[in-house]
Amino acid sequence: MANRKTYYLTTPIYYVNDVPHPGHAYTTVAADALARAHRLQSRDAFFLTGTDEHGQNIERIAREKGVRPQEYCDGIASVFKALWDRLLIRYDRFIRTTDEVHKRGVLKLWGLLRSAEGPDGRPVIYRDTYAGWYCPRCEGFKTEDELKQPGNLCPDHERASEWTEEENLFFRLSAYEGWLREEIESGRLLIEPAGRRNEVLAVVRQGLKDFSVSRARVKWGIPVPDDPGHVFYVWMDALANYVTALGFADDSPDYRRFWAEAGERLHFVGKEIIRFHCLYWPAMLKAAGLPVPSRVFAHGWLTKGGKKLSKSTGNIISPDDLIDRFGPDAFRYFFLREGSFGQDWDFTEDAFVRRFNADLANDLGNLVSRALTMVARYCEGKLPARPAVSPSAMGIEARLQREEELAARLRTIFVAYDALDYAGALSAVWGWIAELNQRIVVEAPWELAKDPVRRPELEAFLYRLLEAIRLLATLAGPVIPNAACRIFAMLGLSGEPGPQDLAWGRLEPGKPLGKIEPLFPRVENKEKSVTETKVPATSDGAAPPAGTAGPAPAAAGAAMDGRIDIAEFARVELRVAQILEAEKVQGSKKLIRLQVDLGTEKRQVVAGIAESYAAEALVGRKVALVVNLKPAKLMGVESNGMVLAASLEGKAVLLQPDADVPVGTKIR
Ligand code: MSP
Repeated sequence: MANRKTYYLTTPIYYVNDVPHPGHAYTTVAADALARAHRLQSRDAFFLTGTDEHGQNIERIAREKGVRPQEYCDGIASVFKALWDRLLIRYDRFIRTTDEVHKRGVLKLWGLLRSAEGPDGRPVIYRDTYAGWYCPRCEGFKTEDELKQPGNLCPDHERASEWTEEENLFFRLSAYEGWLREEIESGRLLIEPAGRRNEVLAVVRQGLKDFSVSRARVKWGIPVPDDPGHVFYVWMDALANYVTALGFADDSPDYRRFWAEAGERLHFVGKEIIRFHCLYWPAMLKAAGLPVPSRVFAHGWLTKGGKKLSKSTGNIISPDDLIDRFGPDAFRYFFLREGSFGQDWDFTEDAFVRRFNADLANDLGNLVSRALTMVARYCEGKLPARPAVSPSAMGIEARLQREEELAARLRTIFVAYDALDYAGALSAVWGWIAELNQRIVVEAPWELAKDPVRRPELEAFLYRLLEAIRLLATLAGPVIPNAACRIFAMLGLSGEPGPQDLAWGRLEPGKPLGKIEPLFPRVENKEKSVTETKVPATSDGAAPPAGTAGPAPAAAGAAMDGRIDIAEFARVELRVAQILEAEKVQGSKKLIRLQVDLGTEKRQVVAGIAESYAAEALVGRKVALVVNLKPAKLMGVESNGMVLAASLEGKAVLLQPDADVPVGTKIR
């Protein structure tokens, strides 16, 4: 055990200034899914989350509510815990910055910093006067350039910053510029996605300013020992949680195992707090002579109507309502499948309902119920005999039985989980589901069942089908843990999937199945009924110039009823393309200019999707593209092709491949 690589993963600790919203849940669900994927591979993992309870903001809110700050924090911390329970979050520890073990840890870290010298031989902590614009919501200083005028507004919170002057203790961050650059450039501190790493490096290159680590005006915090009347700056206090929670104060075995000794130390953060995690925190640790994080992944924002989901923006959706309606598995699935984890993406209820019905109710739900119903019908509800490996059979269910093929497929999925490419991991699993659904149609077990001579074939197919379902439930389990357990129960297995379930052939012939229940009964959109159109709409949103965008004009020879023959359809060249850049067309409400990769070439395409998608959220996405369309100009911008989208009540919904298909792949 002592020599095994360890995996420590953390979420930010969330402010208790309000109850949790889906943005907080997004990070926490993602971290939980990775922790579960680690455990599934028998890895030694520790998953930490918690709450950030000190600071001026909390002090003010508690005062406004007329309660003591501690009482207020206790209330909100328990709401966070209750939500995590509902969302099946299995953390190893929940740290609160008001916990004794945390306070003692902060003081120990402080002791190390207080006596430390930086690379330039000067003390890392010194006293000075600070004057600057302070945003109490960020609990951070802003430069004049960052503020929005008029009103000196914080760009993230759209609230007035306060001019603050006081004598404080400072941390000499500037002394760590060279060291930080080396850590980041060498990849010893891996910052992902790469764009964020470059952003942090650019900040370092501009020169780093020292930051204050104590506050005189705030009472609600951990008192600085040698500075009566000061408490620690809330970020210094908060960042320390990543070690204090492990028992840093007492040099505990968990601290040694997951932080002090080599292993992956991964912080999940939203992109707005990357500087604290990639600059302040590593420098503080280095100064204290402690190991630094090995990886920081800054994910994108969940937006609604194009704006960051947050209390200050006022566009909050209640996570409890979503869980009430769709259940925890669907919540987790949707959040991790819909966007690309590093990018911003826009939440809509329509998209939620569509994914629920298409992926969970139809693809997965139907596969499970069809397979189990056939075993109930043709095998009296008992698992059929385990078939021998068939080296020549090409169906996915037979290929999974071959050891190397299964190992390669598992690797693909686990590599995606490790890269925090949840959409990739899930789309690989859903690729299996699509293939299996097709295989049922091709094998037509109902036909095999009519012929007693073909009984062995029928049984072999059904056993392999159930094994494939068991394996895919195991692999999707990190994201949909309850559904995975329910599938296991229906297969007659008890408990939850674990590492032993990654091998083929675990189902025991002759054992009865459990009770068959619908996994994800279809849902309706509360506000409107969802209509999906299969006809590709013109996606430019503007009136298409004749003969360019829009359905092809009826070609000569088209049938009178508007139907076309296959040769006419074949004239349209459709391919999978990947969006490399996206930017709103100036002066247009609907148009976005895209640079897309077709594998063999790059193209500029204009699409009328700005009312449904934020430009930044599109980068990296794969889309279906009409390649051989005559060029057209939309609002003066040249477009060389057309992105296909469904038109849902006037809004564009992009069509994208269901599995990870290479760019340039032909669509037929
Ligand atoms: N307390 C600090 C973090 C200290 S960590 C040492 C803080 N708290 S917070 O309550 O504001 O939470 C911020 C984090 O919540 C983000 O970094 C992100 O992980 C998550 N999110 C909050 N809103 C979000 C979105 N709208 N979208 C995605 N994640 C979001 O900052």
